Amino acid sequence: MRIAAVVAVALGVLCLACKPSTDESPVELGRRAYMANCIACHNADPAKEGMLGPALAGSSLALVEARVMRAEYPPGYTPKRASSLMPAQPFLKQDVPELAAYLASLAPK
Ligand code: HEC
Repeated sequence: MRIAAVVAVALGVLCLACKPSTDESPVELGRRAYMANCIACHNADPAKEGMLGPALAGSSLALVEARVMRAEYPPGYTPKRASSLMPAQPFLKQDVPELAAYLASLAPK
């Protein structure tokens, strides 16, 4: 009986853990898009410098849009790095607002 109870509790905990995340907020969706498309070059923690790309915490929508869609910068923006290694990823058009929501949510206070 004791073992059955332990197994039942363990299964219950497992079920909680495997339940698909119900957090579909823009910030969470942006975090997923970032993890899937950006961390080859940028740090998995956007507040830190990456292997190739600079820290991105606090980036604005205009900046993310210009970079991801066209590999450009918004007018008047001074890039953190003078290189031009980052390719545009226009297939991420749908994800740009969420990527920006995620990065803006990490702005240094
Ligand atoms: C192939 C590597 C690579 C990938 C993938 C990449 N980046 Fe970059 N990114 C860079 C590099 C390198 C820079 C610095 C400027 C340059 O060399 O183009 C940069 C610069 C940036 C900047 C400008 C930072 C600043 O303030 O000057 C933003 C914003 C940015 N990346 C966002 C993203 C986002 C969002 C993604 C994912 C959708 C992404 N990058 C994917 C390499 C990459």
